[in-house]
Amino acid sequence: MSRPRLLDLFCGAGGCSVGYSRAGFDVTGVDIEPHDDYPYDLIVSDAMRVLLGVDFLSEFDVVHASPPCQAKTTMSNRYRGKGGRTDEHINLIAPVRDLLLTWGGLYVIENVPGARFDLREPITLHGGMFELGVDRPRLFESNAPLMLAPAPATRNPLGVYGARPDGRRLWTRADGTEQRAAASIEAAGAAMGIDWMTDFRDIAEAIPPAYTECIGGQLLDYLERAA
Ligand SMILES: C[S@@+](CC[C@H](N)C(=O)[O-])C[C@H]1O[C@@H](n2cnc3c(N)ncnc32)[C@H](O)[C@@H]1O
Repeated sequence: MSRPRLLDLFCGAGGCSVGYSRAGFDVTGVDIEPHDDYPYDLIVSDAMRVLLGVDFLSEFDVVHASPPCQAKTTMSNRYRGKGGRTDEHINLIAPVRDLLLTWGGLYVIENVPGARFDLREPITLHGGMFELGVDRPRLFESNAPLMLAPAPATRNPLGVYGARPDGRRLWTRADGTEQRAAASIEAAGAAMGIDWMTDFRDIAEAIPPAYTECIGGQLLDYLERAA
């Protein structure tokens, strides 16, 4: 029997895609840049153009989108309004949702906690739910019902951000322990549950696949019930 198909828009090197594939989807990715480590079929294109192709979208059972999130990170909040690159970022969440609703199929939109008010009734997944070495909370909106089991946050999480794995101290907590950045690609990958990415910048932008494996399982149940 063929697997249901999922289109992963803004797929990067495939953090979300691998989770959906593990859940049981046949995944195709779309990214505006080539990503050599992306493990499935990759369409190098502007996702906003792809979203205009209703007939193409209808070849898929689910469309997932992770629109660029830099405009919504707490890091960029510090720099907003100062005329730098942060001010050039466009918030694509609402246009992406409008196009997905026009298409009318099953969708998921993922983003960072700073985008909470741009998303509709999102659920939050974090590393502690999957025993990962990162905290990395991420929000997921869907027009399918999504559930989660609350879990304590990861203790002493590793920071996986930035351009280089430099092991720097990020901050000192009230109890004197330090939050540190990853000191190597391997450490970053191990904390995220990612073993196929070789470029640190891809890992730093990725979603741990455990998150979308969890969501993908629920989408498959939903599709089965709806059939
Ligand atoms: C946060 S990363 C996605 C990470 C990915 N979801 C994962 O889990 O590994 C955002 C990606 O969006 C891509 N991107 C930005 N603008 C785009 C556009 N207009 N169309 C397609 N991809 C775009 C970037 O190249 C980048 O790879």
